[in-house]
Amino acid sequence: MLRDERIPADELQRIDEEIRGNWPTGEAIDFEEAIAFHESLPDGKRFADVLEDADRPLLQPRAGVATLDEQISLLEHLQDDGGADLLPTTIDSYTRDNAYEKAKTGLEEARDTGKAALNGFPAVNHGVEGCRDLIRALDAPIEVRHGTPDARLLAAVTFAGGFQSFEGGPISYNIPYCKDDDLEETIEHWQYVDRLAGAYTERGIRINREPFGPLTGTLVPPSIAIAVMLVEGKLAATQGVRSLTLGYGQVGNLVQDVAALRALRNLGNEYLDDAVEVTTVFHEWMGGFPPDEARANGVIGLGGTTAAVAEPDKVITKSPQEFRGVPTKEANAAGLRTTRQMIDMVREQQIVLGGIDEEQELIERTAMELIDTVEAHGDGDVASGVVDAFASGALDVPFAPSDAAEGAVLPARDDDGRVRIFEFADLNVSDDVREIHENFLDERARTEGRDRSFAMVADDVDAISDGKLIGRPDAPDDGANAGDSGGESSAD
Ligand code: 5AD
Repeated sequence: MLRDERIPADELQRIDEEIRGNWPTGEAIDFEEAIAFHESLPDGKRFADVLEDADRPLLQPRAGVATLDEQISLLEHLQDDGGADLLPTTIDSYTRDNAYEKAKTGLEEARDTGKAALNGFPAVNHGVEGCRDLIRALDAPIEVRHGTPDARLLAAVTFAGGFQSFEGGPISYNIPYCKDDDLEETIEHWQYVDRLAGAYTERGIRINREPFGPLTGTLVPPSIAIAVMLVEGKLAATQGVRSLTLGYGQVGNLVQDVAALRALRNLGNEYLDDAVEVTTVFHEWMGGFPPDEARANGVIGLGGTTAAVAEPDKVITKSPQEFRGVPTKEANAAGLRTTRQMIDMVREQQIVLGGIDEEQELIERTAMELIDTVEAHGDGDVASGVVDAFASGALDVPFAPSDAAEGAVLPARDDDGRVRIFEFADLNVSDDVREIHENFLDERARTEGRDRSFAMVADDVDAISDGKLIGRPDAPDDGANAGDSGGESSAD
């Protein structure tokens, strides 16, 4: 039965051997030799230390191409031209699906033809030595960013390959990404990933773990995202992870975003074991972007402004080409520099915003109600509790494609543009909290002279890509949205 308990050492070894046998590059993994490689790395490549010791928000983009040479030059560009403090390696979709044979074919094609045959770096196929060549070539620490429900082999190869940070988690890489991956099984798979990170940690190599905060990236109420972060954080801590970066995706309302980041940091420190070093990451807007690059820069600028006020430890940046999907390296670097400019200008100012404390209090109260629900569903055990809570809808994520969740809860913005819960479905929160959300949405309904209705939800989903924050009816169309709405937001 699934429990939030540490995998015993002999069991870890057994799973490890099985996983390494799944693909030829797995055979090359040698734990002791991997520890020696990590120990040989300079301080500037120790991900957890660099992140935790920073005195300003660090910037990190997303980036991944198929071949090693191109990945190196891409990351050099983002480091040198974009000023990225932390680097990514975004993994291709085949590897995320454990389709290593297809990834291999794509990699060969990319090598032979120079074409972009894959949408990311197939780290499993590059193997331990390929990963180490990448780690050696760059000065900054590099994180594995992906979207893989069963990331066991990816973790085994990349940890041995010298990566010291790994994105994802059993809920955040299942509920928003998959249709029929069993949640219980996904949790077991991530218990192995976290236990392996814990094994390195015990040997003095702290592997930073980063649950994916934005979830479906579409108007996720902060309290829901934070509850998921706390559960994933706890599951990871049980397995021995000691450096955890909890995530949150920008919703676009400055006060709510600052309040949510403070709530995330505060509850992370309160709820998780004191032995865990908790940091936070702020994702610039993960929903649909305006197709116009100038407007997209506006969205990115608001992200930078928010980061300057809230001071998360890290910001994941977007590019002005977000609408068309994977950006050019120049656009990617431009997103980094726009963000840096906003942060550096705004951070010097003392900005006093009204209403942050009240918003933070509401977010924290609601998130803790959801955590209590998870614990109650598992008789105190969050691993079995979270599976049950999702199955019953007591915990839910809007627009979740996974069969493991009801996906019935719906968000809408209030009159101030803050994300509230429009449809609670079976979400287990108190009447008190419900009433607060309903009152906020009624206020908007009055302003707009229409009923509180699903139309608001639909209008809000497209609002930012249409050039607004709130999806008001009859807003004059000034031509912001030249194309179809929404960019690619299905990746991490
Ligand atoms: N390189 C850069 N960005 C990527 N994304 C997905 N794959 C890559 C890649 N290989 C980005 C999308 C979007 C986010 C969800 O992930 O452009 O911003």
